[in-house]
Amino acid sequence: MAGGIGSRFWPSSRTARPKQFIDILGTGESLMQMTWQRARRFSKPEQILVLTNQLYQNLVAEHLPEISKTNILTEPARNNTAPCIAYAAFKLYQKDPEAIMVILPADHLILKEDKYAEKIQTAVDFVAKNEALVTLGIQPTRPDTGYGYIQFTQNATQPTDKGRAIDTAINVLPVKSFKEKPDLVTAERYLNSRQYLWNAGIFIWKAKDVISGFKKYQPDLYALFEGGMPYYNTDQENAFIEQHYKTSPKISIDYALMEKADNVFTVPADIGWSDLGTWASLWDVKQKDDAGNVLISDQHMELSQTKGCIISKDPEKLAVIDGLTDYIVIDQKDVLLIYPKSKEQDIKHIIAKLEQQK
Ligand code: GDD
Ligand code: MG
Repeated sequence: MAGGIGSRFWPSSRTARPKQFIDILGTGESLMQMTWQRARRFSKPEQILVLTNQLYQNLVAEHLPEISKTNILTEPARNNTAPCIAYAAFKLYQKDPEAIMVILPADHLILKEDKYAEKIQTAVDFVAKNEALVTLGIQPTRPDTGYGYIQFTQNATQPTDKGRAIDTAINVLPVKSFKEKPDLVTAERYLNSRQYLWNAGIFIWKAKDVISGFKKYQPDLYALFEGGMPYYNTDQENAFIEQHYKTSPKISIDYALMEKADNVFTVPADIGWSDLGTWASLWDVKQKDDAGNVLISDQHMELSQTKGCIISKDPEKLAVIDGLTDYIVIDQKDVLLIYPKSKEQDIKHIIAKLEQQK
């Protein structure tokens, strides 16, 4: 899935070039390219479909020289992840109802790639034998309101010296409840209860099983994409999508299905995962100076009494900063953002407001 705008990474991530197409870590590879390489560990290029907005078709082709044009599926509207997954599921189902889907967001960082491949395999083996919707679960470290929270069954927890914590060696756990993006008070309660994992947004299931879920919980979405069965994998597929995709409900898979289904399972996965959804999440994973600042380029920087900040600017420009704690400072040609890290979830609302004023 590579169709999001990455709005909390503004102003580096823009509608014209969202964060999956940026070398955000400074490694020489975009997040999209890193995701492709991870998918290649268990799939051949012809088995990998990239779903994206029409706007990004050329960017995907440019970033992934190995992909065939026909494996880039383009969406004519930004309708969030449920329709994008429904489209892919029906297209695969039309060829093979038993097809197993591994759904990867294109904008994540995963440090432990061997572990990751192992956890995906565990999930694949499980869904091959069970009518299950599986998601990888991550040990939460803070009450982040930007994630989905998975409540796993009590009896699978193990006592540790820090209280009850999840044993990541346990392979597949039944999920009791799923809550997408809770408010802060709720997220704090979940964190303290030690009964929740974060949803990594990496889903594994059979095409036919996710379609059954849509049929039960999202009948409109189901009916729309079911209507395309005569056209998928024919030369009329694009015309069908062009005409009907826009009319689908705008909803994420988390609200559409994961919160509602009763056959959700999680594979706890200690894989060095980060959503890289926000500036603070980038701060978490990058190397810091002695005062805990992440400097995207440390040339021409005069800092004093400045702690816990993430600072990105033109390497040629001199920045003088005094007395700033836990701030995001992003200086670009046309935008200067100076914003508290603690309020960064609000950045997307500000952009929405700016868009309206245009
Ligand atoms: N093709 C396509 N079309 N992709 C999309 C669309 C769309 O309309 N909207 C979003 N995506 C892609 C994004 O590029 C990203 O790779 C992925 O789908 C998830 O979308 P986000 O917008 O980044 O979701 P989120 O981070 O707010 O929340 C999801 O991920 C969290 C973990 O990263 C949820 O699944 C949460 O429950 C989860 O914790
Ligand atoms: Mg995300």
